[in-house]
Amino acid sequence: MKKNNFYVTTPIYYPSGNLHIGHAYTTTLADILARYKKEMGYNVFFLTGSDEHGLKIQQKAEAQGVEPKVFVDGIVETFKNLWKLLDIDYDRFIRTTDQDHVDAVQKIFTDLYEKDLIYPSSYQGKYCVSCEEFLTRAQYDDDFKHNVCGNVAIDFEEETYMLKVSAFKDFLVKLFATDFLIPEARKNEMLNNFILNNLEDLSVTRVSFDWGIKIKENDKHIIYVWLDALSNYITALGYKSGDESLLQKFWSDETEIVQLVGKEITRFHSIYWPVILNGLGLRTPDKLLSHGWILNRDTKMSKSIGNVVNPIDVINTYGSDALRFYVAHNLPTDRDGNFTDDLFRESFNINLANNVGNLLSRTSNMIMKYFDGSLSVNADLNSEIMLSAKKTIKNYQAKMDKYNISEAVMEVLKLGQECNKLIEDTRPWDLEKEGKIKELELFLANIRQAIIVICYLLKPVLVKNYTRMVTQMGANANKIKFENLLSDEIDFAKIVTKEIIFERLK
Ligand code: MSP
Repeated sequence: MKKNNFYVTTPIYYPSGNLHIGHAYTTTLADILARYKKEMGYNVFFLTGSDEHGLKIQQKAEAQGVEPKVFVDGIVETFKNLWKLLDIDYDRFIRTTDQDHVDAVQKIFTDLYEKDLIYPSSYQGKYCVSCEEFLTRAQYDDDFKHNVCGNVAIDFEEETYMLKVSAFKDFLVKLFATDFLIPEARKNEMLNNFILNNLEDLSVTRVSFDWGIKIKENDKHIIYVWLDALSNYITALGYKSGDESLLQKFWSDETEIVQLVGKEITRFHSIYWPVILNGLGLRTPDKLLSHGWILNRDTKMSKSIGNVVNPIDVINTYGSDALRFYVAHNLPTDRDGNFTDDLFRESFNINLANNVGNLLSRTSNMIMKYFDGSLSVNADLNSEIMLSAKKTIKNYQAKMDKYNISEAVMEVLKLGQECNKLIEDTRPWDLEKEGKIKELELFLANIRQAIIVICYLLKPVLVKNYTRMVTQMGANANKIKFENLLSDEIDFAKIVTKEIIFERLK
């Protein structure tokens, strides 16, 4: 069923230090999907934010001798600044310390408690503070090191309230029979490691520290940071706030709900989150896209390992579009990917400088040189290159509709290569010498329109340069839409510049 609304979320990041390329990765993918869906005519809501409670944050703040709220306030500003530099166009930045979120989370707890889905008990087990996660035996080694982050798990024994996750086994088995979670491999991991064998109730309150949301039922307890954090996806839309108009719109059956997460937090989003939603009587998202990690020389980039790349350095050196492009094209979500300066520069030169950039500058150059910047004919929509462009649009949409951004971008780059090759094979400079002016003019009109298709399909990625790119072709950026890409309706003005937009990196 074609839906009219699109709701996309990123995980909310821990304000425990600076964000790195790994975090920029998820947020950029979400931003690209949001922008694509807007072009497709959807009403879009794009949510990101910060996950501010929990023991890890409390410990970091204590180490600096400041109150947790003061500690996170400063870091959250750096998050917002990064998103601005990266052209991330979110609709709300939720902080779990926002009062509307706090109030709603207390009500969520009460609702589940009153439905007997939460009950008082006690819990004992191994806990990873860095990941704020209870570990099953398979998740830590003989030295108690967590297999994801390498930190030593602590012993945890407390009086607590438990969420009856075990009662939802049938629900989860059914959910996992659908294509809710992608990629497929992650599905089997969740089923085998957590759902079919170890589906235990989850401890959802703490009494040993106080940086969190108090429950109304018992003032010794604060809510487990993951129950608090996962709830953000609905509290941000006003759930239990008194005004649920956004929720009714974006958490309804008319909305395509897509959540992006990294693979190490798949358990929370594919098991606990659907259970909470089901307990509350709310629908499950359409898709949970669990992406791989960005590695730096084959090791997960992470603060604790110390091999992080700072996105701000990359933006300052190469520009935000270059970073957005690398994320979109070079890091397919179904596997781990690498980020190194060499790979980054190589991709920039091959794709943005030699392919797209070169095509733009050589074409504007020829139109200026041979026709003083204006062509008197439109593209032949049945020419080979325009038929290719038509196929590219179709393939691109099919990939984007499956959230496969990297393959979608590759479709566009293929069209760029085809145009470049066609220029080399046709040799427009020979046409001019031979006096075949009509043929030359039509050829350039075809290429010009194919370039508009290329630019438009890259618009969700190349946010800063898009207008410059189409303006260089003489087109009016505001008038280009999916509906008129393959038509005569794009009015081309005189081309006045042959500037090089993506200069080759030395
Ligand atoms: N606060 C939780 C999420 C709560 S969502 C209800 C959290 N925060 S985090 O700051 O540690 O990380 C958030 C996201 O960043 C995760 O999706 C994680 O996978 C992603 N990444 C962190 N390092 C990464 C890489 N090196 N590569 C790709 N993504 C990485 O978890």
